[in-house]
Order: sequence, then structure tokens, then C-alpha cells
Amino acid sequence: MSLLRLENITKRFGGLIAVDKVSLEIEAGEVIGIVGPNGSGKTTLFNIISGVYSPDEGNITFEGKDITKLPAHKRAPLGLGRTFQIPRPFSSASVRENVAIGAMFGTLSGQVSVDDSLKIADRYIELVGIETQKNKESGSLTPVEKKLMEIARALAMKPKLLLMDEAMAGMNPKDIDHMVQFIKRIKEEEEIAIVAMVEHIMRAVVGLAERVIVMNFGAKLVDAKTEKALADPRVVEVYLGHPPDESKWKSEIWKKE
Ligand SMILES: Nc1ncnc2c1ncn2[C@@H]1O[C@H](COP(=O)(O)OP(=O)(O)OP(=O)(O)O)[C@@H](O)[C@H]1O
Ligand SMILES: [Mg+2]
Repeated sequence: MSLLRLENITKRFGGLIAVDKVSLEIEAGEVIGIVGPNGSGKTTLFNIISGVYSPDEGNITFEGKDITKLPAHKRAPLGLGRTFQIPRPFSSASVRENVAIGAMFGTLSGQVSVDDSLKIADRYIELVGIETQKNKESGSLTPVEKKLMEIARALAMKPKLLLMDEAMAGMNPKDIDHMVQFIKRIKEEEEIAIVAMVEHIMRAVVGLAERVIVMNFGAKLVDAKTEKALADPRVVEVYLGHPPDESKWKSEIWKKE
């Protein structure tokens, strides 16, 4: 049984088909990269998986349970944790409180006291390396620190499937390498075995993902092992046909280091 299974998922916004009949499976233990040009439906797909949107068509099962109609707050306790492309912290709350919220609403929801949640928060704040900021108002963090806080919060949910939406955008190559090592470590050390991530930064995708799903115009174009997917002529064409945003791609797209 797959951990997550999407069958023929379609999502429309008015006349626009943002996600077009996407089927995919994620197995326990996988790290998957989801790539594709701007507007190809990656974030919408994440929103459907985490329950922010319900699909117009199709089914989603998580550990064999049909969650298609389950709202987001009921999915998080099942083990679906996510970060947001644009971090949305409670700005006046401290970093520590923001991360503790993850513990309270994740798979441990209802089982942990406020004190326990704060202890869990401390652990993940240290793991992502922002402990010096932990008592600051989260609104005062730099964009990169906000991303790290988002990751700490998603990890504090103790998810079975961690969905990361451009968690590394805006980071310099050194920070990206740090993140790649760090995600590998979580994959090994935590019970969080699976990470699905949307990234424009190929350095991160190549460094981490075992399998890559390429989206184009809302549809799944390619779903294959990373090397094979990125060498696929259809994938090359998608990016040549739609020149990527330089600032996002940092011209690292096909470079492997
Ligand atoms: N809430 C919404 N209402 C209307 N249209 C939307 C909404 N959310 C997304 N869209 C549209 O759906 C399409 C897919 O958008 P989505 O954000 O999923 O793409 P993406 O692959 O995440 O892009 P990016 O790489 O820029 O983050 C786009 O055309 C977008 O404008
Ligand atoms: Mg997006």
C-alpha cells in the first residue's frame, strides 16, 4: 500500500485547469522532487494534498484511507505536514511559539501539553539552526530564517509525509547545501521518512530527490528516477519553451555538481 495515492486529480479555477488529471503514488521512504515551470500547478497540487483545496475530480488516499473530502485540520493529525511557499507565521508570536503550534496540531495533537510542545519546538529550532532567534517575534526574522522556522514547524508536526513548497528559495548555495544535508539527516533520524518538495533549485533537487515528478500545464509530464527525468527530452523542451525565471533558477538548472 502506498503512503499517498492520488487518482485522476483535477482542480479548476474558473476556466483555468490548474491541475489536470494527475495520478501519483508516494511510497514510504522516498524523497521526491516536484518541478515544473511557474504556474504549472505544483503549489495547487500541494494544497490539494494537504487539504487547503478540495479537488473537482479524483480521489486521494493516505495510508489506504480516503481523505478526499477531509479538511486540512483533520489531515495534519494523520501525518500530512507542510511548509508554505510564502511563510505565514503569526508575526507577533515568538519563533518558539510558532514552532510549538506545529507540535500541537500535528500527529501529536491532543497528546502533548503546552510545555511538551515547547520542548519539541526547541529540538527542531536547534536542528534547523535558528536557536539564537528563538525568543524573538517571528515577524522580525529574515526571509531565510522564516523559511527555516517554517521547516521546524512542519517537522514539529511529526508528519509521515512532509511537503515542502520552495523551502529553499532565496537561500545561497551554502545554505542550500546545509539544507540538503539536514533533510537527509531528518530522513534518516526521524520517523519522517518521506519528503516531497517543490523546488526550482536544481542543486537541491539533484542532491536530494530519488524520483522527480515534472509538471507542465497542470499535468504530470514525467515521473521517473531523478537522472532519467531530468535527461528526458520532453523535460528539456518544457524549460526551453518557457525560459525559467533567472532569479529563481539561478542558471543551475542542468548543472550537476
Ligand atoms: N486561488 C487561485 N485562484 C485562481 N487561480 C489560481 C489560484 N491558485 C493558483 N491559480 C492558478 O493556477 C495555476 C497553477 O498555479 P500554481 O500556484 O499551482 O503553480 P506553481 O507550479 O506552484 O507555480 P510557481 O512555480 O510560480 O510557484 C496558475 O495559472 C495560477 O495562476
Ligand atoms: Mg508554487
